[in-house]
Amino acid sequence: MEFDTKTPPYLTSDKLSFAYISARDRWPVIVTQAVDDLYRSVSECQDPEKQEEGKKIIEELSRLKYELQHDRQLTPIRDDGGADVAIYNRELEQLGTPSWFNIPWLFCECYLYRRLNTSFSLSKHWKTYDVFYRQKIKTFRSSRPAVIELAARYKDLVTQIEQDKFKAGTGSEHEEAEKILFFEMCEICLWGNATDLSLLTSLTYEDIQKLQGSEARKASEKNILVNDLGATYEVLKKAKDEGRKERRVDIVLDNAGFELYVDLILAGYLLSSGLATLVVLHPKSIPWFVSDVLPTDFAALLSALADPRRFYETPSEEDKLQNNTPSPLADKDVTDLGFLFQEWARMHAEGQLIMRPNTFWTHPGSYWRLPSTEKDLYEDLKTSEVVIFKGDLNYRKLTGDAAWDPATPFTEAIGPLGPGSGVNVLALRTCKADVVVGLKPGLDEEILATEGGGGDSGARKWAWSGKWAVVSFSNGK
Ligand code: F6P
Ligand code: MG
Repeated sequence: MEFDTKTPPYLTSDKLSFAYISARDRWPVIVTQAVDDLYRSVSECQDPEKQEEGKKIIEELSRLKYELQHDRQLTPIRDDGGADVAIYNRELEQLGTPSWFNIPWLFCECYLYRRLNTSFSLSKHWKTYDVFYRQKIKTFRSSRPAVIELAARYKDLVTQIEQDKFKAGTGSEHEEAEKILFFEMCEICLWGNATDLSLLTSLTYEDIQKLQGSEARKASEKNILVNDLGATYEVLKKAKDEGRKERRVDIVLDNAGFELYVDLILAGYLLSSGLATLVVLHPKSIPWFVSDVLPTDFAALLSALADPRRFYETPSEEDKLQNNTPSPLADKDVTDLGFLFQEWARMHAEGQLIMRPNTFWTHPGSYWRLPSTEKDLYEDLKTSEVVIFKGDLNYRKLTGDAAWDPATPFTEAIGPLGPGSGVNVLALRTCKADVVVGLKPGLDEEILATEGGGGDSGARKWAWSGKWAVVSFSNGK
């Protein structure tokens, strides 16, 4: 806490912020869905001991929901051997052990997922059970049209890049194309974040599919309120032109399924185009904010692509219940998806595309603490050309989830990770929470005045829906 910004954080007690709405409306639904999932697994389970233990976990989750809805004090995280237990509990004590509706939003929401996790980690049979896995995989299946569209686009693109390498005299034209594609890949990667599952409590699958297609992406360009991709591209281009041997890009991942898929599209593009020679992916270590990537989600994605027919054509539980037979994939779709699998599996096997988990990403605090409390990780990130932070939660952590004036420069709002930090930070974020910085003066007021923007209610409603985005870069070198 000593390293955090002094700008006040958003609180769950603030009825005008999304913090309050999240705590009141969304978290109980998320815990209920977790209970439903576990209930299903428990009833399918054959081992009586495991079944009993599963029932006990269901009780614990139900108690957690009760405490939340009745605004009880947060209790210390039980010791499950995790090194972060002391970090959570020390902070809880420093906050004066507050209740659910009177606490900094960021801490409380992280606590919710860490607390959920202890029920599993303290068990014998359910230690590594991912209570959100079903939801993640189901949403990925439902994003099939966009997955196929992008696979075809990616295959054409990479094939063309390979052919171009052997053509002479493409010079500035080639560079222009590279830059345009860099923008396109980053924007695909950005909007892939509009579909996280924690917001699914209010979006239908049809809404999600609309968010994913290329038409939707083009139409959404005007909704990117800050776009620093030009400056980011220059950094990568310069490193490439200097001929440095290792040029690394890091992606601090957000959600699994479709978002991870588009992250890999970007990673693959960076490696194929030579804008990077190494991409390091940073997943979470425990089930987190419903949809965040665990290392197992990466494996599940690759295995879906390895055999797309099995993945997309085998009826799911829901299909069976509704007597649905998924439509077969066209041969071309299977070839395109297979191409992706081969590319990414090769990059992974050759060590150009790697995963590097770190429990820091599931700590409760903001990234203002990173340089002081996580020296090894900090030094590691400094060696990267650009560290891309995906999604809303990463943005909240970068900015301390604080109530900044929206015209505050991004470089100021990220504090110790800003200029001089040695870390080049790029945030690709669709807005799903109140905090927003780096806007032109007056822009917040303009959007507030649009329909559903929040008007003069005092609530920045426009920033909650995932409809608007910010792409902010800070040069830390
Ligand atoms: O605003 C809803 C919310 O759950 C926030 O609590 C959180 O920051 C975000 O969505 C998660 O979104 P993302 O997956 O983009 O980090
Ligand atoms: Mg997420």
